[in-house]
Amino acid sequence: PNIQEMYNTFDFESVAKNVLKPEAWAYYSSGSDDEISMRENHNAFHRIWLKPRVMVDVKNIHMKTRMLGTEVSMPLYITGTALGKLGHPEGELVLTRAAAETNIIQMIPTLASCSFDEIVDAALATQTQWVQLYVNSDRNITKAFVQHAEKRGIRGLFVTVDAPQLGRREKDMRVKYSDEAPEEMEQKDVNRNEGAARYISTFIDPSLSWKDLPWLKSITNMPIILKGVQTSTDAILAFKNGCQGIVLSNHGGRQLDFAPSGIEILPEVMDVLHREEGFNANNFEVYVDGGIRRGSDIFKAIALGASGVGIGRPALFAMSTYGQAGVTRLIQLLQDELEMCMRLMGAPTVQHITRDMVDIRNLKDH
Ligand code: FNR
Repeated sequence: PNIQEMYNTFDFESVAKNVLKPEAWAYYSSGSDDEISMRENHNAFHRIWLKPRVMVDVKNIHMKTRMLGTEVSMPLYITGTALGKLGHPEGELVLTRAAAETNIIQMIPTLASCSFDEIVDAALATQTQWVQLYVNSDRNITKAFVQHAEKRGIRGLFVTVDAPQLGRREKDMRVKYSDEAPEEMEQKDVNRNEGAARYISTFIDPSLSWKDLPWLKSITNMPIILKGVQTSTDAILAFKNGCQGIVLSNHGGRQLDFAPSGIEILPEVMDVLHREEGFNANNFEVYVDGGIRRGSDIFKAIALGASGVGIGRPALFAMSTYGQAGVTRLIQLLQDELEMCMRLMGAPTVQHITRDMVDIRNLKDH
């Protein structure tokens, strides 16, 4: 179908399912085990209702906000997802260009298909990028990567902490991952025979712990944000250990099945953080990803205290189907939806989006 016929994030997903190579669809769309967490990520938003205010001047709506010091057009970023070239020959560069067009931030994944430098080079001089880090068992590799990223102007280090071992994504495992040269596939220690995820897991250090944080802080001045925090206990530990933020995330339901969705734990996490001495939303930012599919999802997360939200699969599906124009349209659709939601909610700016505007009484009732 024509790109003009894409009216929401789900439309891109339907088209992607039909046009993607089977291994790309399997890798992008899969969640772990029974995919309960994956589905729950979006479903949880259905249990949050809105409390619209009327008779507010909503002629002009301003969605601009700041994330880790960068002014962006809306509280949304493209999160890091591995293997962009499975879906598009230019891979992550497509996301870079669309992020520039729409003035949002792109998080560059450690396991991008394009090289890190290619992705930074594709950005405008004024464009902010973040980086997602898988800590390697060889700390020197990680140190070099982090310091290079900082030198190239990256503004945030998002350390993935929910993947000491990659989840079992069965759809993906059933498809043989054959992107690499055949001789490499012979190597025993790099198992490419059970999907892209198994291939990736060889690089990640399962021994990563809180004890490594002082070291990480010592090698960089970038803000450190832990990506994949799933309890208020760990949210506090991240704060106390000197991180600048967290992403409440279950990795898009691709890691521990039955891990809660980020949006579900957000209210409790914010309550607990607000009780911590020295905490404020300016020195510790809380982000959410997983299942963001509508402007109202963004609104709900902001109302509950998030500084912004990330999208993963929607950007991949838009990229894989319509390239840069697709990703740009996807972001503009979300922008239009958020604008409409803010207007009908009586919230003319992001600062006006407050907790009393959402009803979370049923959020915990599954
Ligand atoms: C991911 N995600 C991810 N996260 C990460 O920290 N490092 C990575 O390499 C990847 N790779 C990856 C690949 C694919 C195909 C997907 C779908 C996801 C997780 C990602 O950053 C994010 O947490 C979720 O994608 C958010 O959920 P939605 O928006 O996909 O529902």
